[in-house]
Amino acid sequence: MEKPISRETRVLVVDDEQPIRNLVNRAVQNAGYACQTAGDGQEALEILKREPVDVVITDIAMPGMNGIELTRAIREKFSADVIVMTGFVEDYVFEDVIADGASDFVQKPVSLKEMIIRLKRLLRERENIARRAKMEEELRQSFCLLKRSLEDAISVLSRALEMRDPYTAGHQKRVTQLACMIGIEMGIDDEMMDGIRLAGLVHDIGKINVPSEILTKPGKLSRIEHDLIRIHPEAGFDILKDIEFPWPIAEIVRQHHERMDGSGYPQGLTGDAIRIEARIIAVADVIDAMASHRPYRPAMGLEKALEEVEGKKGILYDRDIVEACARVLERNGKDLFQ
Ligand SMILES: [Fe+2]
Repeated sequence: MEKPISRETRVLVVDDEQPIRNLVNRAVQNAGYACQTAGDGQEALEILKREPVDVVITDIAMPGMNGIELTRAIREKFSADVIVMTGFVEDYVFEDVIADGASDFVQKPVSLKEMIIRLKRLLRERENIARRAKMEEELRQSFCLLKRSLEDAISVLSRALEMRDPYTAGHQKRVTQLACMIGIEMGIDDEMMDGIRLAGLVHDIGKINVPSEILTKPGKLSRIEHDLIRIHPEAGFDILKDIEFPWPIAEIVRQHHERMDGSGYPQGLTGDAIRIEARIIAVADVIDAMASHRPYRPAMGLEKALEEVEGKKGILYDRDIVEACARVLERNGKDLFQ
């Protein structure tokens, strides 16, 4: 079924010969579209500057600015489509006219019926393109909203944990900051960086399973207490695994205490079997843990923390990540850990 035509559709007919202008104008209006005319390219551009036009139908051979030059000027500055019409077919090859920016091409003497069919087809295409662009924009907006809600939920989780354990308050945030700086330094792509950021914010969420007396206990921990703390990567994985993130957040959290030589926990993974996001968070985590105060020991300071990590690069920690971390801390360490 034919769609009802829209009076809001605006067409501009450009031709130096008034009878042709009038003929085409009448046909376009009879087809149900708003139409106006211009006698040359300059006048057409003035109209386009003043008001919205969807389609320009223009002659090619005109005194002053010809139709091809007009087409180029329109495609450069305006959103209107152009249909060109000419009697000098031998001078203009269809492909060249299209390459110059025209959307369609009709030969003079113009068959008005054919012209209107082409106009309608062009308008349908424009409508489809506009509809697609609108849908894409809506999709992009809802994805942004979803991403923001996810980030909010993650921040709430992060703060909930830190309420139970004032000593690690701010730890997850600082680790995230440092991990992101390392990621940027290493040229990690934006998509993966989002995963690092969100995983960093909740990497210790599993500590919610550990009694807070143990988390805040001053002095040395007993073997059993230590073992209880060591369940937190797996506990974090269990908490996060059923949320369908676009990033492997649960897996990164599970792996943040793994070490390159397999001496880490919970799975004893080695080298590349540990996700790069987890390797980055591991280095940032160790730096922050050592550089800041803990209930069972005073802060070691940033320099000592970096020394420790550099001494174990290639053994416990990923060599490239430690080196990127050293460069980042050299530049911004003071601001991150004062
Ligand atoms: Fe941890």
